[in-house]
Amino acid sequence: MRVGNTHYRSIWTGEDGLVRIIDQTRLPHEFVVTTLADLDDAARAIRDMLVRGAPLIGATAAYGFCLGLAAGASDADLDRIGDLLVRCRPTAVNLRWAVQRMDDLLRPLPEGERREAAWREAAALCEEDVATNKAIGRHGVELIRAAWQDKGQQEPVHILTHCNAGWLATVDWGTALAPVYRAVQEGIPVHVWVDETRPRNQGAGLTAWELAAAGIGHHLLVDNGGGHLMQHGRVDLCIVGTDRTTATGDVCNKIGTYLKALAAHDNQVPFYVALPGSTIDWSVEKADRIPIEERDQDEVLYVAGRLDNGRLDRVRIAPPTTEALNPAFDVTPARLVTGLITERGICPASRQGLLALYPEQR
Ligand code: MRU
Repeated sequence: MRVGNTHYRSIWTGEDGLVRIIDQTRLPHEFVVTTLADLDDAARAIRDMLVRGAPLIGATAAYGFCLGLAAGASDADLDRIGDLLVRCRPTAVNLRWAVQRMDDLLRPLPEGERREAAWREAAALCEEDVATNKAIGRHGVELIRAAWQDKGQQEPVHILTHCNAGWLATVDWGTALAPVYRAVQEGIPVHVWVDETRPRNQGAGLTAWELAAAGIGHHLLVDNGGGHLMQHGRVDLCIVGTDRTTATGDVCNKIGTYLKALAAHDNQVPFYVALPGSTIDWSVEKADRIPIEERDQDEVLYVAGRLDNGRLDRVRIAPPTTEALNPAFDVTPARLVTGLITERGICPASRQGLLALYPEQR
């Protein structure tokens, strides 16, 4: 996606063979490109959320694998690298998926061929992610077009999204935002309601930044605002991403997604979830088996931002003795999901729906 006059992906390799990322902890205030020079850098970038969003976590893990491989890496090296990476964040299944994909490819190879093959595979994984997200956009835009036609093509389609499932959360395009970007390309007017997404405010800091950079109309909403807007007919469609989708169509996404789905259900607002196949965990039937990441309580107790004097700072918002709980994700049951937008098409959020698109999983 474009930032100013330059096309960026969220992760890429430089001429020097090192990996570059956009440090997302610095947005929206500063646009900083950071180098990942070794495995520890990659692991730290995932753990400290310089990169985040399920598909981008997977892509970074793939490159982390490359950065960790010495020439002639042994099976024990593969074990060590994989173990380190999968422990960085527990909920997004793309992390495990990417590590497994690298391991499956590299382990059967002679040790001397592993490093070069790893770089090729990480690049291929990134290209696939871009193509996948583009396809999600192509399928998802039909929902936006239909909503626009329903409105008599008179005013923009109002789409509510939660957290950031835009290009910053993937290698390019995004998942939930891919249909939005596609709609703009096709001349369909859209406007996005952006949930701020406490505690880390990925909506305010990342989604709003992306949409502003693309010149797409949007308003920031407090996390509790969506239900009210839905009651007043001001949301045509909700589209969110997912960090892990069960084989039965439940979706685990940023905390607060479930409440939006409940409000959408109560107000007959369609609630769609956009995802690449790599986000489906076919081994999980029941969503209570998904590990929910618990993050530092300081993320809740403090708010970070830019002061009027230009300085970046953080302020405490609760009494000094108050403690906080910080689960980062919640599960939205399939019954509240109108449909899943995948790279292979749109399907009901159910085992049958998913298997119709991914028959090889039968
Ligand atoms: O904690 P984060 O910022 O990694 O959470 C990201 C999300 O919840 C996204 O909605 C999800 O990863 C889907 S990204 C295409």
